[in-house]
Amino acid sequence: MALIQQCLRVCNDVAPSWAGGQEDRQEFCVREGLCAAVEQSFAWAVGQRPVIESHGAMLPSALATVCPKRLALAVSFCFRKSVERSVAALHGQRVLLGVSGGIAAYKAAELVRRLRDAGAEVRVVMTAGAQRFITALTLQALSGNPVRTSLWDEAAEAAMGHIELARWATRILIAPASADLLARLALGRADDLLTTLCLASEAPLAVAPAMNRVMWAHPATQAHVGTLRARGVEILGPASGEQACGETGEGRMSEPQVLVDALSATLVPQRLVSKRILVSAGPTFEDIDPVRFLGNRSSGRMGFALAAAAAKAGAEVTLVAGPVRLATPSGVSRIDVRSAAQMREALLSALPGQHAYIGAAAVADYRPAEIATQKIKKGDGPSSLVLERTVDILAEIASHPQRPACLLGFAAETHDVETYARGKLEAKRLDGIAANRVGVPGQGFDADENALKLYWNGGQREYATASKAAIAAGLIDWVADWLERK
Ligand code: CTP
Repeated sequence: MALIQQCLRVCNDVAPSWAGGQEDRQEFCVREGLCAAVEQSFAWAVGQRPVIESHGAMLPSALATVCPKRLALAVSFCFRKSVERSVAALHGQRVLLGVSGGIAAYKAAELVRRLRDAGAEVRVVMTAGAQRFITALTLQALSGNPVRTSLWDEAAEAAMGHIELARWATRILIAPASADLLARLALGRADDLLTTLCLASEAPLAVAPAMNRVMWAHPATQAHVGTLRARGVEILGPASGEQACGETGEGRMSEPQVLVDALSATLVPQRLVSKRILVSAGPTFEDIDPVRFLGNRSSGRMGFALAAAAAKAGAEVTLVAGPVRLATPSGVSRIDVRSAAQMREALLSALPGQHAYIGAAAVADYRPAEIATQKIKKGDGPSSLVLERTVDILAEIASHPQRPACLLGFAAETHDVETYARGKLEAKRLDGIAANRVGVPGQGFDADENALKLYWNGGQREYATASKAAIAAGLIDWVADWLERK
């Protein structure tokens, strides 16, 4: 990992001075979580030779002799010429890509390429609707495999082709997933090849919804999505923006690279086995009376993504969640709370034996000094609310006798992000703080994607816009580094 940091420093110093350098640097930061693969890339780029098994031992000394400019060129070389192949996060994965009917089906062509670039073997199954938007021939040429479109293909089914395909897949990704497809999946229907395969396969399933914003927001669609999520299906997106129908809103299919990043993020190395990680997520609600409360706009998605990423890295994860409607990530123990006081109590009782605490919750700083036991009527209610400060849980944990070895805080700021974030890093005596700008459309609260900067004493790292799952994987990697160094 020291190697990665060394390279990042060089990227920061030198990258702006060459054309495309800034882009490379950002790309590097996003992908940094995939450290082993990135090291491989560097080994190849720096040495300009195939990587040998012992590259980890060989490289740091090799790097010491490389001048920064050359290293910077290696970064560029790496990302421009070989990163897609070298950062083979999906290497060895057999991805069954399901394409359903919708204008976003054209993006499936790009997606197949990106999946293959990331090292996956890809086979495509198209629904009848999908074939009206893009041809099987295109996807066959790009995937390098025949495309299946029907359950009634006599030649393929002579050898029980759909069962063979269901067993072949290590991952199933459906992109785009139309409203109709989501409904059929939620109901467990098997009325075409794609839905039959989903029922017949034990591979993890991810879907990338794409549809008109009103269709996406419809309670029927949302109910189906809720059912699928509760069943462990990963819902990737949709993103917000301009739609093919001319409207603007939530419903666009996430970009192919975002989908590949999300898929890759689920394949993180098991770096946190035997580590215990405590995560807080979501807002807190501070009651005013039995029907009103003070809250905030945190959706809890970043905290849940962190808990999921830590569990995937092998950690024993306890997630203390404020009032959110999100499915518990698999393998995570969840404690639901409502107020800042309840969150503090739950976190402190879970604290003994934790190796890291990640404070992603947006904990209220103030609560009403008194909670009315009956609904306050407008006639006799006070014209102002008397508030009192809540306890700063993160700062309290930092000075607790059972302080975990790694404390990672969050700072959501609308302006002067670095100054405020570094201020909190120091004031709360944290090991790291992840800061993001809020108030930027499509990012932060309630968005699928995020972009943030991580600061620690003597360093910083940038995570350019990517899915929350991908960013969470990167942050968990940093936590693993920190714990390894301790
Ligand atoms: N935090 C906490 N307890 C609180 C308030 C905040 O544990 N009562 C934690 C959050 O979980 C987050 C970090 O402190 O990890 C920073 O939260 P933030 O609201 O950005 O900062 P504050 O310290 O509350 O400062 P301000 O609201 O003035 O920006």
